[in-house]
Amino acid sequence: MSDRETNGAGSPGEATRQHATLTIGNEQYELDVRRGTIGPDVVDVGNLYKQTGRFTYDPGFTSTANCKSSITFIDGDKGELLYRGYPIDQLAENTNFLAVCYLLLYGELPTNTEFINFRRTITNHTMVHEQMTRFFTGYRRDAHPMAVMVGTVGALSSFYHDSTDITDQEQREIASHRMIAKMPTIAAMAYKYSIGQPFIYPRNDLDYTSNFLQMCFAVPSEPYIVNPIISRALDRIFILHADHEQNASTSTVRLAGSSGANPFACIASGIACLWGPAHGGANEAALNMLKEIGSVDRVPEFVAKAKDKSSGFRLMGFGHRVYKNYDPRAKVMQKTCHEILDALGHRDDPLLKIAIELERIALQDEYFIEKKLYPNIDFYSGITLRAIGFPVELFTVLFAVARTVGWIAQWKEMIEDPEQRIGRPRQLYIGPPRREFPAE
Ligand code: ACO
Repeated sequence: MSDRETNGAGSPGEATRQHATLTIGNEQYELDVRRGTIGPDVVDVGNLYKQTGRFTYDPGFTSTANCKSSITFIDGDKGELLYRGYPIDQLAENTNFLAVCYLLLYGELPTNTEFINFRRTITNHTMVHEQMTRFFTGYRRDAHPMAVMVGTVGALSSFYHDSTDITDQEQREIASHRMIAKMPTIAAMAYKYSIGQPFIYPRNDLDYTSNFLQMCFAVPSEPYIVNPIISRALDRIFILHADHEQNASTSTVRLAGSSGANPFACIASGIACLWGPAHGGANEAALNMLKEIGSVDRVPEFVAKAKDKSSGFRLMGFGHRVYKNYDPRAKVMQKTCHEILDALGHRDDPLLKIAIELERIALQDEYFIEKKLYPNIDFYSGITLRAIGFPVELFTVLFAVARTVGWIAQWKEMIEDPEQRIGRPRQLYIGPPRREFPAE
């Protein structure tokens, strides 16, 4: 394929004048090549089966684009992440999570008036149906909060029937706002339930993240004052997690939504996928790993173990399917981690010392250099969240709160895409061929 400048005009996403030629034995086939705004061109194999009677094989979708999207872009080699074109570090530095929600949903940063209106709309939806409090009490006291989230968010569809018709643009909009507004309330309820404290209602005079903090940490018997440093840091953490292109949970939401399932059910499926330790559960796993290492002098032992394939051990918070460079979110997270530990007087946190030493050793080690394994966002987020006061079981829940807007924006984009069809991957069958049921 020739380079981007010469491969034909047309809007991003359209076929270029270039073609890829596929040779199978003596047969040759021409395949369209599509070009995005930035990023690699894609070879369009949508008609391959019709043309050739063959499928493509790509477990884990390492080379397969499943959709067109204009929301988020990652350059894994450069270590760059853009939301609607804006670099993640600039957004984290200069704006707030709710403005980023607006950006992801509508494509542009909000004007002052747009922001005020959007905040009012979201704020209007922060409470959950009162009957949900009774729904919560059906869970076991010691249930993992992610189990509670999967069930409760799925159950939203039974409480909000009036926004489940996905063919109605207005209902889609209301469902999107409800989801962004109610997720912190549900997450805080899951936490409160797990520690046996009363649910705290949302306070609409507070900003999005401060309100979430008060729902998690306030108790009815005492006044609660939000620490602005913590609120700002958590808001930034939410920005960093808001969207990440076609990752496993987002692809799950798209796949669930492709059948026409309602948005609450789709987001519940995203939460289920996020729960896994290779995805959203990694910050919990990274913190547990730092605790297991226990002291700086044991770091080399664990690095050696991570390099030994037979151990089955990996450095949690290291490596990424797409980033083959330092995860740009990890840089902001590292800075936020230091800010929070300084502000809260935890500068000597032994886990931070272990993390710094682990990063230092791994980044110099040939194994990690050769495989391009760098710290990802989860490496420092666990330490930060723990310092703020969140228990480890809640880490993935916080991720889900932040990622909800990304899931919703991607779900909306899919529903509104005229090319959208039900997702239905094919397979390479390796089981027994047809055989007859044995006669007596
Ligand atoms: N520690 C040690 N070795 C590793 C690690 C690690 N953390 N990650 C990858 N490797 C090695 C693999 O053993 C493999 O080696 P090989 O080529 O000799 O077989 C090579 O690097 C490539 O690894 P894959 O598993 O093929 O890479 P993949 O892209 O499938 O996986 C993943 C990416 C799942 C993130 C992986 O790096 C990992 O398990 N990391 C630890 C878990 C983690 O931190 N997950 C968070 C991801 S970020 C997020 O979800 C927000």
